[in-house]
Amino acid sequence: MEYVSRIINSKITVCELNKYFGTQEKKRQILKDIDFSVKEGEFICLLGPSGCGKSTILNLISGLDMDYSGKVFIDGQLVSNARTSVELTRRMTYLFQEPRLLPWLTVEKNLFFALKCAKVPKSDWKSAVTEMLHLVHLDGMEKHYIHELSGGMQHRVAIARAFIVNPDIILMDEPFSALDELTARSIRSTLLDIWRRDCKTILFVTHNAMEATYLSDRIFMFSANPGEIEEFYQNDLPRPRQYESDELFKTNQEVVTKFMSIIGRDKNENA
Ligand SMILES: Nc1ncnc2c1ncn2[C@@H]1O[C@H](COP(=O)(O)OP(=O)(O)OP(=O)(O)O)[C@@H](O)[C@H]1O
Ligand SMILES: [Mg+2]
Repeated sequence: MEYVSRIINSKITVCELNKYFGTQEKKRQILKDIDFSVKEGEFICLLGPSGCGKSTILNLISGLDMDYSGKVFIDGQLVSNARTSVELTRRMTYLFQEPRLLPWLTVEKNLFFALKCAKVPKSDWKSAVTEMLHLVHLDGMEKHYIHELSGGMQHRVAIARAFIVNPDIILMDEPFSALDELTARSIRSTLLDIWRRDCKTILFVTHNAMEATYLSDRIFMFSANPGEIEEFYQNDLPRPRQYESDELFKTNQEVVTKFMSIIGRDKNENA
């Protein structure tokens, strides 16, 4: 009964998920016994060493990869049920490390394209773009081509494109890791402004403990080989958060200490 209520009351539930890559003869376990729930509007960061399966989890949740054992529920509905997955995943957007915009189109046309795919009525496109570009601090940039923008500006357009289609869930895979720290800070703060306004559920993959501390409500900390969640860290740091505050510094230290102890453990010690 408790199991059912967890699924019904969560935006995302992942139950006993295991994932292997490779052939039948040479299988390698990538994810082991992954089990968690995320509430609507929560900001979750996934923190783990390279290769522990963070991107793989996003692929499984988004329905891009359906080859796993276990169950994934969105709004209480099973994602792995092929008949419903298309409808479910339409309510999600995915942001990658690179902005993945269409460089031969203008900013406005990139956003129009997303609105068209989401079947938003054409009469609403102009106002949606103006509002969204204002939120990401790109007012007046509608007619610029993507190749005319800086890396940071392109990331802002990618955020605008993710939010403009009004998804319930946004999956973000190290979206700011290629940016310099000052630009990344400014974009993170914009992201939090929009997240607070729209109350979206976000799963955000990062290698950066400070980024996770600044952004998250909870941090899922992974060990590798195979990828397992070792700690569900509750980040109660009050919002809005300031990079230079003592509170953020202290919480970040705690996060780093916990994380280092997880990745420093030898998994085979007790095997
Ligand atoms: N299509 C695939 N076929 C075989 N192995 C794969 C495939 N995709 C990923 N892997 C392996 O699965 C493991 C997890 O990969 P994944 O990309 O999820 O890691 P990650 O935690 O996102 O790493 P990073 O932080 O470097 O992005 C890695 O060992 C990777 O080599
Ligand atoms: Mg990855």
